[in-house]
Amino acid sequence: MLWTSLLAFTAIAEAAPWSDWLSKRQGGTTMLRFGCAQVVIDRLDPLVNPGSIPSPHVHQIVGGNMFNATMTTGDVSQGAKCTTCAFSKDFSNYWTANLYFKARNGSYKRVKQLGAANQFSDNFSTKIDGGVLVYYVSAAPGKVTAFKPGFRMLVGDPTKRTADSKLKTQNCYRCYTGPNFGGDNAAPCAGYGSVDSAGLPTKQCKGGIRSNILFPTCWDGVNLDSPDHRSHVAYPTSGPANFLSLGGNCPSTHPVRIPQLMYEVVWDTTPFNDASLWPTDGSQPFYFSYGDNTGYGQHADYVFGWEGNELQKGMDATNCMGAKCKDMKNQVIDTAKACQVKKTVQENQDGWIDKLPGTDMPMVM
Ligand SMILES: *[C@@H]1O[C@H](CO)[C@@H](O)[C@H](O)[C@H]1NC(C)=O
Ligand SMILES: *[C@@H]1O[C@H](CO)[C@@H](O)[C@H](O)[C@H]1NC(C)=O
Ligand SMILES: *[C@@H]1O[C@H](CO)[C@@H](O)[C@H](O)[C@H]1NC(C)=O
Repeated sequence: MLWTSLLAFTAIAEAAPWSDWLSKRQGGTTMLRFGCAQVVIDRLDPLVNPGSIPSPHVHQIVGGNMFNATMTTGDVSQGAKCTTCAFSKDFSNYWTANLYFKARNGSYKRVKQLGAANQFSDNFSTKIDGGVLVYYVSAAPGKVTAFKPGFRMLVGDPTKRTADSKLKTQNCYRCYTGPNFGGDNAAPCAGYGSVDSAGLPTKQCKGGIRSNILFPTCWDGVNLDSPDHRSHVAYPTSGPANFLSLGGNCPSTHPVRIPQLMYEVVWDTTPFNDASLWPTDGSQPFYFSYGDNTGYGQHADYVFGWEGNELQKGMDATNCMGAKCKDMKNQVIDTAKACQVKKTVQENQDGWIDKLPGTDMPMVM
């Protein structure tokens, strides 16, 4: 089924559960969809600014407890003792920029995150408040190669302030129309023209704002990283894939198909839904920690850290949906939340601040 028909389907029918879409679309596909609670909020970026304490902007980090400023190479699953993710053998680290609300007086306040919408009877991911929902999708059982120990990558460009229509399916925002995710059930980035946009929504969203960030799905098969943390991976020759499709063929330079990795972050913007707080000139009051109020610079970082062949096992499984898959090991939310990394850069995290930390430092990309 083409994505366009999926769109039509969503618009005219009762919102069908994702599992229906998936089984119609490519029988047997596995989609791991699971929450990872926050492991720390810190001004560190071991990928782009290794060893820099602090780095130019604040990040929210989830996953294994090996996260530190200098984790530039190596297999993090070897050193990590615990993880905040639903799958207890996933010691990977996932991080994105924090979001702030800028008041009329110019002060900023961090926007807190919500848990994920309940899908597939998942009672872990709904409770990750402060965390990130992570997806790994296989093209079909046996059709993707899991990342190798030491693998890392970056998607998006924090210096971008304009829309890139080619990347529309790789970075999108959903404006939730009401509480409980506005009854949302459409696939990520599938609601352009209605609930989804390429930049930050410009109106007040009654149920908060969601960001989906999708990584490329082809790998050169050799390099675990590259100087820009991007060129060892690529989009399919037909361009960035839609979520779940994984697109066409991989280019000959990047012939290995890797799982579709996607992050989903939901911010509770509702405490700021007060017209008297919003700028009178209609400008966007939400800013990312790197100084962007367009949303086009949204980016995400990944350091692979699944133990052994656990992720490959998941990708090879048939019809796994959500935060449980066959004999893959899980943990309960309380155990996950007990896993923490000590904050390195001590800054005011949740009070009103007069400027975004680090925005006077140059961003090296
Ligand atoms: C940071 O993490 C790396 C591995 O990911 C480890 O080798 C190194 O010892 C850690 N450094 C500190 C200061 O903990
Ligand atoms: C700025 O405005 C916010 C929201 O109205 C308020 O809570 C905060 O105290 C103000 N900060 C300063 C420095 O006046
Ligand atoms: C919900 O969580 C409990 C532990 O808190 C767990 O035992 C149970 O299997 C979970 N249910 C589902 C459907 O995941």
